[in-house]
Amino acid sequence: MAVDPTRRRAGRVVAVAGGKGGVGKSVVSLNLGIMLGRLGYRTTIVDADLGAPNVHTLLGVMRPGPGLGAYLDHEVETLADAAIDGGTPNLRVIPGTARAGAANINAGQKLRLLRAIANLGGDVVIVDVGAGSAYNTVDLVVAADIKVVVMTPQLTSLQNGYSFVKACVQRSLRRLPDDNESRAILEELLTGEGESRPVQRAVAILRDSHPELADAVVDVLARFGVMIVGNMTSSEQDRAVFARMSTMMADYLMLRAPVIGTLPLHDAIRKSVNDRTPIAMLDRPAEAVGALRALARTVLDVDVRRLRLAGRAQAAERTLPIWVERELPTR
Ligand SMILES: Nc1ncnc2c1ncn2[C@@H]1O[C@H](COP(=O)(O)OP(=O)(O)O)[C@@H](O)[C@H]1O
Ligand SMILES: [Mg+2]
Repeated sequence: MAVDPTRRRAGRVVAVAGGKGGVGKSVVSLNLGIMLGRLGYRTTIVDADLGAPNVHTLLGVMRPGPGLGAYLDHEVETLADAAIDGGTPNLRVIPGTARAGAANINAGQKLRLLRAIANLGGDVVIVDVGAGSAYNTVDLVVAADIKVVVMTPQLTSLQNGYSFVKACVQRSLRRLPDDNESRAILEELLTGEGESRPVQRAVAILRDSHPELADAVVDVLARFGVMIVGNMTSSEQDRAVFARMSTMMADYLMLRAPVIGTLPLHDAIRKSVNDRTPIAMLDRPAEAVGALRALARTVLDVDVRRLRLAGRAQAAERTLPIWVERELPTR
C-alpha cells in the first residue's frame, strides 16, 4: 500500500513503555511496527530494553548481528548501520544488546543514543524500552514525541505504569527551568507534602510566585503525549480500569492520557511469541489485529509539530527536546 508523499506527516518517535515487565511492551512495539510498515510508512523499531532485548526473537531472527550494542561501543558509525531487515515492507529493526551492564550506559552514551534515535529518519521510530524506572529508561521515554504506556488490568501493572508516568513527569519538570533558583523551587513544590503533591496543587502554588514558570509547566504537561494501551483484557470491567487510570493521570499529574486501544488476552498472541510469528503478519486474531490497526492510525494522526513546541520560547521545530540540546556537547 503506497503512501501519498504529499500527505506525509512529520517523522515521529514513539516510545513503548509500561513500568512493569511482561505486560506486552515488545508484543505491542513489534506488531505496531509491522502494521505501520504494511500501511506504507517507513518504520524503525529500536530494541532499547538494555540488557534484556527480545524484539528480534519475536520476529524469528535468531542471530541478530551487531545491533544497538555495536553502536554504543562505536563499532558502527550510525545507528542505522546496526539495523536488520524487519521481514515486512518498510520495516527495519535495531536489535538490542544483552551484554552485562548494558543498562548502565553513562550520560554521554545516553545523549548520543537519544540523538541517534531522533536522527533515524523515516515516518515512525518505535522505541521498545525495558521495565523499571531507571533514569536511562525514563529519559528514552521523556525524549519521545508519543509515550505509549502499556498496562494490563492487574493491580501491579497499573501501579507500576502510573509510577512510571509520574517519574517521567517529574523528570521533565525538573529539567524545565534553566536557572538553579527556579529548579529548586519546582523541586520543592513537586516533592513537598511528604511523598509528593498532586501536580495541580504545585501549579496553583507556583501561580502566585512564579506565573511564567507555572505557565511553562502547564504547557509541557498539555503536550506530554502520553497514551494508554490496555493489554490482556478479558471483560468490559477490565477495559473500564484503563479509563479510570486515564482520569487518575488527569487528576494527579495534569496529563491528557487517552486510552488509545485495548488488546484482548488471547491464546493466539501467547502462541505467536513461541512460534516467532507476530500476529500482525498472520492477520489474526481479527479483534487484536483490528485494535493494532487503530493504534497505528492514532499514532500517525498525532500532530507532533504541535507537541514539540512545548516549553520553547521560539516556535522553531526541532527533533530533540530542549533538555537534550542543552546537555549535548557542542560539536
Ligand atoms: N494480549 C495478550 N494475550 C495473551 N498473551 C499475551 C498478550 N500480550 C502479551 N502476551 C504474553 O506476554 C508475554 C510478555 O509480553 P512481552 O511483550 O514480551 O512483555 P514486555 O515486553 O512488556 O516484557 C508474551 O511472551 C506473551 O506470551
Ligand atoms: Mg520486552
